Amino acid sequence: MKHLIIGFTAMLTASTAFAEAVKPTDVVFVDGAVETSLSGVAGDPAVGAEIMNKGAGNCIACHQVSALSHLAFHGEIGPPLDGVADRWTVPELRGIVANAKVMFDGSLMPSFYRTEGFIRLGDAYTGEAHGGGEVQPLLTAQQVEDVVAFLVTLKEQ
Ligand code: HEC
Repeated sequence: MKHLIIGFTAMLTASTAFAEAVKPTDVVFVDGAVETSLSGVAGDPAVGAEIMNKGAGNCIACHQVSALSHLAFHGEIGPPLDGVADRWTVPELRGIVANAKVMFDGSLMPSFYRTEGFIRLGDAYTGEAHGGGEVQPLLTAQQVEDVVAFLVTLKEQ
């Protein structure tokens, strides 16, 4: 009987790991911030650090990050992200990554979790026009959470 109960609890825990992601069109912004997790699953800062690199989130094309100084091509279009966790709360960081244009009107920063309202729809970073069909966000809900989990580690020493 005890085993049965433990097994059941494990099943319940596992099912929450597959929580439905919030759709890009359903994200609720309050003053540019997004209070609840987009994926329902805690982000992984190590995975987030990889997404910051070229070819994925491409964040370092515009932002300098001392903790990622081993990666090439740090740009200066956006502010350095060192100490960003001291400047913004987790919901604010989530909102900035999901759609920076809500926090910073007219920002050059791409909207990473957005699928509608574009003026010129391209096919991600390929420079090609979008081929039709369903628009995918640049990052998945889980990737946004992973990036936010990494940003949270960026505190001034
Ligand atoms: C095309 C350039 C560009 C890219 C790519 C980019 N950003 Fe930004 N980001 C900016 C700019 C510019 C700002 C300053 C806000 C504004 O637009 O006025 C900014 C602001 C921010 C801020 C607030 C920083 C602060 O100290 O106030 C965070 C956090 C941030 N970006 C995270 C990211 C992350 C994470 C990624 C990758 C997933 C990313 N950015 C990709 C241009 C970019």
